[in-house]
Amino acid sequence: KRLLPLLTGLVLLLSACGREDLSTLNPQGPVAEKQLDLMKLSIGIMALVVVVVFAICIYVLIRFRRRAGDKTIPKQVEGNHTLEIIWTVIPLVLLVILGVPTINDVFGLAKDYSKDKNAVQVKVTAHQYWWEFEYTDLGITTAQELIVPTDKVISFELVSADVKHSFWIPSIGGKMDTNPGVTNRMFLEFPKEGVFRGKCAELCGTSHALMDFKAKAVSPESFARWVSAMKAPAVMPADAEIAEKFTSQCLSCHAVGENGGSGAPNLTGIGGRQTVGGILYNDEATAEQNLHDWITDPQKYKVGAAMPKALDNSLTPEEVASISKYLAEYKLDY
Ligand code: CUA
Repeated sequence: KRLLPLLTGLVLLLSACGREDLSTLNPQGPVAEKQLDLMKLSIGIMALVVVVVFAICIYVLIRFRRRAGDKTIPKQVEGNHTLEIIWTVIPLVLLVILGVPTINDVFGLAKDYSKDKNAVQVKVTAHQYWWEFEYTDLGITTAQELIVPTDKVISFELVSADVKHSFWIPSIGGKMDTNPGVTNRMFLEFPKEGVFRGKCAELCGTSHALMDFKAKAVSPESFARWVSAMKAPAVMPADAEIAEKFTSQCLSCHAVGENGGSGAPNLTGIGGRQTVGGILYNDEATAEQNLHDWITDPQKYKVGAAMPKALDNSLTPEEVASISKYLAEYKLDY
């Protein structure tokens, strides 16, 4: 009876791992495939060890159990060279079987990819609690939604602006820590078009669990259109007063196109992103409302977010509404 809650918990835990879009068991690219092969190999070896050890254990328990009326002390054994050699050599062999493909894959992937001159260079900067993606060769920066072409290797430089985070797209590959002051490198491929969920995989503060992002893999043509749309002059609010308020209040930290500051998520084309703040899911009908809710009280959705509440930031409710509408309509065509 005591086992039941334990088993239920285990089943629930495993079923959570089965979420298709956030699962290492459903690889969508060559890196995640290799990682899954390694997982299968190590689980296979572990299962073999468990079965053999349990079989021996159960056999010994039954075969050498104390029988009724038996008062004798069993034969005392001080050591056995043959047995000791066997149980030293077997784990060594298993470690070699596990270690050789692991080292081969880890270094092989990095070596092959680093030779690729056509790789798209992306500098990932992790912030509490959002992600910044800078395409260093293309001169563009975006946030929360990483757009990648399906035909190229993506070469990531990973850093952090504050504490330690970890960059992970379970169905594509990873994970790799982002550290302040140190640059880590990682390569990934996205051969299939689609949207893949990414997570922060290192406990980094109160909203660690909400530090989500998306990786959107698009056709090479679509990627080229996205790059030119990102480089096009920024679309500003049509109303001059709102544009001025937006510039003075929002663009001191955020940026759209060539306008604005740094240190907060780039907002170029934000209306076309799947989420606001990485966690409020948009559709045609809800993008404006989500933006409005977020701007009004970011901490309600992400405790510890650095963005101040809009009304504290000397915006009127009408200005918040206009800016939300403008942002929701700011979409890039690609
Ligand atoms: Cu960033 Cu956890």
